[in-house]
Amino acid sequence: MAQIKFFDTTLRDGEQSPGVNLNQLEKLEIAKQLERLGMDIMEAGFPASSKGDFESVRQIARTIKDTSVTGLARTFKSDIDIAWDALKDAEEPRLHVFLATSPIHMTRKLMKTPEEVIETSVEMVSYAKKKFTHVEWSAEDASRSDLDFLVTIINKVIDAGATVINLPDTVGYTTPEEYGRMFRYVRENVPNIDRVDLSAHCHDDLGMAVANSIAAIENGVTQVEGTINGIGERAGNASLEEIALALKIRNDHYQHGTNLDLKEIKRTSDLVSKLTGMVVPANKAVVGRNAFAHESGIHQDGVLKDVTTYEIITPEMVGVKSNNLVLGKHSGRHAFKDKVEQMGYKLSEEKIMEAFKTFKALTDSKKEVTDDDLFTILTDLQTDS
Ligand code: KIV
Ligand code: ZN
Repeated sequence: MAQIKFFDTTLRDGEQSPGVNLNQLEKLEIAKQLERLGMDIMEAGFPASSKGDFESVRQIARTIKDTSVTGLARTFKSDIDIAWDALKDAEEPRLHVFLATSPIHMTRKLMKTPEEVIETSVEMVSYAKKKFTHVEWSAEDASRSDLDFLVTIINKVIDAGATVINLPDTVGYTTPEEYGRMFRYVRENVPNIDRVDLSAHCHDDLGMAVANSIAAIENGVTQVEGTINGIGERAGNASLEEIALALKIRNDHYQHGTNLDLKEIKRTSDLVSKLTGMVVPANKAVVGRNAFAHESGIHQDGVLKDVTTYEIITPEMVGVKSNNLVLGKHSGRHAFKDKVEQMGYKLSEEKIMEAFKTFKALTDSKKEVTDDDLFTILTDLQTDS
């Protein structure tokens, strides 16, 4: 079974989330956890962007041994030189250099012709290759670029020594069908594409980053990029934990594996949330507080009879201790009785019924009934008898 390489950019694109600013120690702590998670590659930062980022990337490159560490650079020799200084002590020095290829970016932002974009990319990839073993070249805004222009420039940067070709959906504009088609076209029209890793990098502006990444996998990419909890510029990046779980749970369909230790997912998510201050929505897939919580009576009854009726991922698989039957207004008698017994009470059916009625009345005024509420209900019941 083919393994997909996972490239984490929580410390670079993720840190570009408005309001997020990690210090050196926090970045190192996240880097160590990404290594424990089994990440193949981590982008530790953008060394030329600030002295602080340079120091963080250097420290991470010197500390992390089991994950390949990379840093971002613009197509400037000075950026590449600074990145080399930060990354040269890494086990496997790796550079990520990017230049935009879409008409809108070339004309309105770069003020460069397509020929100049090719020339600069080739020149900078060759320059980087004199120092770095691995050079990833990204066509920024690839999903809004002309396909034949992409084929031309990719051929040239591979000849210049690029080892990874990344085609980002920079503004989260593409659809799964379109994004998949782009990779298929590149695979079919770039003769040397098998010499390099082909990579997807998606943003979530239309809520399709994970679906687009999966479409890219179905169309021949060997690497996916994203962040933990999907944090990142604007609406964020593709959520790596969601892609990993989709590949695991629907392996029958996708037939691709990962090198991740999935049991480290929850711990990684909690750490990133705590240090970035970006709260994970309760209903977020895989890592949200409610991802393994069941509230309705029908669901709770099903889960108590056979957990697979309503759970496709086991909580333990991603490092969550257990599922959670939340007692609320939709809960039924079966879950209520189970909870009462878990709390150590042995009540007759009649008493359970009485307590259940009191509990139901309480749910009209409270969204969630806590253990303390239940304790009060059960104690009152015992005192009354
Ligand atoms: O989204 C993007 O295009 C990027 C590039 C720097 C790779 O983050
Ligand atoms: Zn990005």
